[in-house]
Formats: sequence, C-alpha cells, structure tokens
Amino acid sequence: MQAHRIKNLFSAIAKHYDFLNALLSLKRDKVWRQETVKVSEVEPTSKVLDVCTGTGELALAYTDKLDTDGFVIGSDFCFEMLVIGDQKLQQPVGAVSNRTTSFLAADTLTLPFLDNTFDVVSVGFGIRNVSDLEMGIREMTRVAAPGGRVVILEFTQPVNPLFRSLYYFYFTKVLPFLGNLISRNKDDAYGYLPRSVMKFPNCDALKTVMEQCGLTDVRYQRKTFGIVAIHVGKKPII
Ligand SMILES: C[S@@+](CC[C@H](N)C(=O)[O-])C[C@H]1O[C@@H](n2cnc3c(N)ncnc32)[C@H](O)[C@@H]1O
Repeated sequence: MQAHRIKNLFSAIAKHYDFLNALLSLKRDKVWRQETVKVSEVEPTSKVLDVCTGTGELALAYTDKLDTDGFVIGSDFCFEMLVIGDQKLQQPVGAVSNRTTSFLAADTLTLPFLDNTFDVVSVGFGIRNVSDLEMGIREMTRVAAPGGRVVILEFTQPVNPLFRSLYYFYFTKVLPFLGNLISRNKDDAYGYLPRSVMKFPNCDALKTVMEQCGLTDVRYQRKTFGIVAIHVGKKPII
C-alpha cells in the first residue's frame, strides 16, 4: 500500500489502536514485545531506536530496561499515533521514561540519523507496512552501530495446517469484523491486517532479506503457535 494511504489508515484508528491490539491478541501483544526486548540483548546504557513505533508500546518496553545513560527514540510518520505515545510520557517529572524516551516524526525509509548510531534498532508490526521492505531494513541497518542488533517483531503465517485453518478463520473473518466495528472504521483498516500478513515474506524469506541488507547471524523464533516471529540480525564490526 502507498505511504499516504498507510498514514491515513493509522491516523483513523490511532485512538482505538492499543485497546484493539490487547483485545484481538488476548493481551499477547505485550508479551511479544517483552520477548522482543529480551532477544535484543539491551543493556542499561543502550541507545535504542524503535521505528514505526506507532503509539510507542515497543519503545516503552525498552525504556523499562534502561538507566538514565541509555535512551530510546520512537519514530513514526503518523502524527496521530505518535501523539498517543507521547501522552504516555506525561508522568510526574522525574519518571525514568520522561528522561530517557522521546518520540519523533520520521519516515523509516529516510531516517534523520547518522550512520552507526544505535545499539538496537527495532520494529514491531511495522516493517510489513513500509512501502519498500528492503529499503526499510537497509535504512535500519545503516543507523545501527557495528555490533548492534536489528530486531523485527512481525506477524507470520502459522506452519501447522490444522491450527492454521482455525486461526485463519479468526484472523480473516472475526478480527476484521470486530476491529472495524469497534474502531468505527469504514475503510476496512482491520481487513488490511490479514491481507498484508498473507503477502509478507515467510520467516526464511525475511531472514534472507535481512542478510541481503548486510546483517549477519540472523536468527528467528516463532511465538504463540507461529502467529508471530521475532528476527534478530547483527551489523558486522568491520
Ligand atoms: C501496526 S503499527 C505498529 C505500531 C507499534 N510498533 C506496535 O508495536 O504496535 C505500524 C506503524 O508503522 C507506521 N509506518 C508505516 N510505514 C512507515 C514509514 N515508512 N515510516 C514511518 N512509519 C511508518 C505507521 O504509521 C504505524 O504507526
């Protein structure tokens, strides 16, 4: 889908995004993000960039692991999603998230950062929406520091045929119906979700794209019967 349509889609559902994520994933989304943080080998002083951060849920999962020498930047090109993330930082002055986390409007395809900057560059349920997958991963790799990690949490297609047929009924029929109803979306925003997942590369193909983008030691793990996968690759130290 073209970038401006993606932006419009997320601005239309921004207010309901977190609630629907929790509801439609039966609260697994938080666990998946915590597992993503775990495999990132983040340290208290790490510099983290979370692209396509949306309402900042993955960025804030990293925040919890940092002390005040580390920081997290969450970037996204949809202002309405970022505003909701920013509201989560409006805590009493002195809260760690206030001191270590910030949100920034930026396109993942042209990140406004120097080469070799971040220890971890992550994306949660976002790279599937970027109009050029390879260019997006190349850009994430460019801003990662040598030895740093590029981490991708994304929906994938379950491998077990029995589970897959049950899950697809939920994913292609029930989820779009409930999502569009609750978010009062007339443009079938929640029908876009299963359609985009079906078109997205499978785990091995995504691993290959990450390697083509210059990452090494790329590995992945499937979670929750293969509904999602977490891929991690390292930027080589030259
Ligand atoms: C499904 S949401 C994911 C939000 C969040 N990362 C999470 O874990 O829930 C996808 C986000 O990707 C953003 N996005 C898509 N393409 C983008 C691009 N080229 N540059 C920046 N953000 C983009 C959308 O605006 C949207 O907020």
